[in-house]
Amino acid sequence: MSAHGDKTPVTLTSADPNAERVAQLRKLFPECWADGEVNFDKLRAALGDSVSAGPERFTFLWAGRADAAALLQTPSRATLVPKPAESVDWDTTRNLFIEGDNLEVLKLLYKAYAGRVKLIYIDPPYNTGNDFVYPDDFADPLAVYLKLTKQTDDAGKLLTSNPETSGRYHSAWLSMMYPRLFLARQLLRDDGVIFVSIDDNEVHHLRLLMNEIFGEENFVATIAWQKRDSPSNDAKGLSVTHEYLLSFQRSEAFRRNLLPRTEDQIGNYKNPDNDPRGVWTQTYIVRQEVRKDRIYPLTNPHGRTVTPPPGTSWRVDQQMYEEYRNDNRIWWGSDGNGDLPFLKRFLTEVAQGVVPTSWWDYKFAGSNRNASVETRALFEREMPFDTPKPTKLVKRLLQIVTSADSDDIVLDFFGGSCTTAQAVLELNREEGGSRRFVMVQLPELTGNEQFPTIAEIGKERIRRVISKLAKETPNMLAGGQSSELREDLGFKVFALGESHFEQWAGVPDRDAAKYAKTMEAFLDPIKPNVDPVAVLWELAVKEGYGLNSTITPAKVGTNTVHTVTDTERDPPQSFRACLDVKLASDIAKQLSLAANDLIICRDSALDDTLAANLALQCRLKTI
Ligand SMILES: C[S@@+](CC[C@H](N)C(=O)[O-])C[C@H]1O[C@@H](n2cnc3c(N)ncnc32)[C@H](O)[C@@H]1O
Repeated sequence: MSAHGDKTPVTLTSADPNAERVAQLRKLFPECWADGEVNFDKLRAALGDSVSAGPERFTFLWAGRADAAALLQTPSRATLVPKPAESVDWDTTRNLFIEGDNLEVLKLLYKAYAGRVKLIYIDPPYNTGNDFVYPDDFADPLAVYLKLTKQTDDAGKLLTSNPETSGRYHSAWLSMMYPRLFLARQLLRDDGVIFVSIDDNEVHHLRLLMNEIFGEENFVATIAWQKRDSPSNDAKGLSVTHEYLLSFQRSEAFRRNLLPRTEDQIGNYKNPDNDPRGVWTQTYIVRQEVRKDRIYPLTNPHGRTVTPPPGTSWRVDQQMYEEYRNDNRIWWGSDGNGDLPFLKRFLTEVAQGVVPTSWWDYKFAGSNRNASVETRALFEREMPFDTPKPTKLVKRLLQIVTSADSDDIVLDFFGGSCTTAQAVLELNREEGGSRRFVMVQLPELTGNEQFPTIAEIGKERIRRVISKLAKETPNMLAGGQSSELREDLGFKVFALGESHFEQWAGVPDRDAAKYAKTMEAFLDPIKPNVDPVAVLWELAVKEGYGLNSTITPAKVGTNTVHTVTDTERDPPQSFRACLDVKLASDIAKQLSLAANDLIICRDSALDDTLAANLALQCRLKTI
């Protein structure tokens, strides 16, 4: 934003995610900057011993890495277009589905959602040689997207797989993942965490890539998930029945939750002696350690004396043992004549849940077979999509990371059939929760008539889950409760699209007629025949407003002025926008604009005096 008292052109591109890091570095080492540029010699000296001096160092390189970094720094010129007709409960829902290439979408979301996402789960292409790896082009990212998805006759031709025979097989995949993971990290809250599904094809590279982006010290775990419940008989070598989820935290502020005990685990608690404190399990009172003060004789209820077996001692000293015995916490077996005593551990006294482990069997987290069964049931037939994950798997992640009534944002930007959205909706229903999802999915072509793209499959799945849940308790939707407490059974759809503003691309062939035509287009920078609501959303996105902002029009004298408000920011923020061709000269007075209020209008809607006046009274941006 320029100095107060000036009008500023609206920014037509997404914010630069790297700028924030550079600003932090500059804050830490102000002496190393001169004239807006870093002085590396000074920085090296300031960093002292942390700079590697020798020619050999640990590095992780692949062909195309520099281009991938350049891609990250290329701001998006695209926008997100609202699609209310494809949405459910547009006005009230906070769940989001965004159709588009996730890199462009993440760039557009960056300003509004940086540091706000609690959990990211992604299930990217595994680079099996048959799956589609998005062919980014840093020279013109949106052009690639439009070409890929425009659905002209030859659309889909570029949607090729990344064949193993391609010379840059691993490199192409790493270049695709690098900028996306980089942005993912920026979106996480300090106590947020990311889980990435992957298999043996790229797990080793992904670990190195994530070490670099998130920092090795933020590695949380590699989960081994048992995806198959039986071996594959036609496997050439071993039948691989598991894959992985790599997990990294944004910072050490992350705290995992305990998982609720399963029926099986609770089943281990019994009450054979009708103890009024309820069910309990037994734990040994010996330990594999010799401590002289804990070796003493004990007498069982039948009068038999026992001592700890050789090489062990009791877990507690004699005084503590007596306290346990007097409190009826010692158990010598149902006949009271066991060789060793046990300590009773009551269910009511143990922690409310169990510590999650890194081994997830299919009974605990579902299998691929479960995933197909549940989508078939929902779609009432085979879904034209091969690689859904079981909802149970994502629910486990939600349980470990998010809490029910937290409004936590859960992001999945390789959404596929939208298992993550289903898991959020169902777990919220089970727990009366308020988590919300943000799904991003490319309109990758399927060749299926009813669901021509995977994005269509995802949206239809969400609609079906919503209508299933709505039928199960129709009264929850009908209100009756206060609006804040109402279950969110809706979702808003946006789609990646071209900007509604003319953007200066130059006149390549120095043709005077073309130049005149281009200049003419710039007289009205808003493209012809565009939906004004979509234009307002573009302004909101580029200003860094979230997709749950509201846009409220009001008649102000001869003008229509829209107030765009984002109540999810702390403090809430808003700006005014007027797309009329002329602005009334007393508009600032009519709107009671104060110095910090932002108003956006067409440059051509102001004469010089009004522009100067407005810029003095408030913040003015022009299109
Ligand atoms: C393995 S699938 C995800 C499956 C999902 N977890 C589920 O349960 O249905 C990966 C998805 O990422 C999508 N995808 C690939 N590249 C993408 C990109 N650049 N932007 C958005 N989605 C992309 C693919 O179309 C595919 O649907």
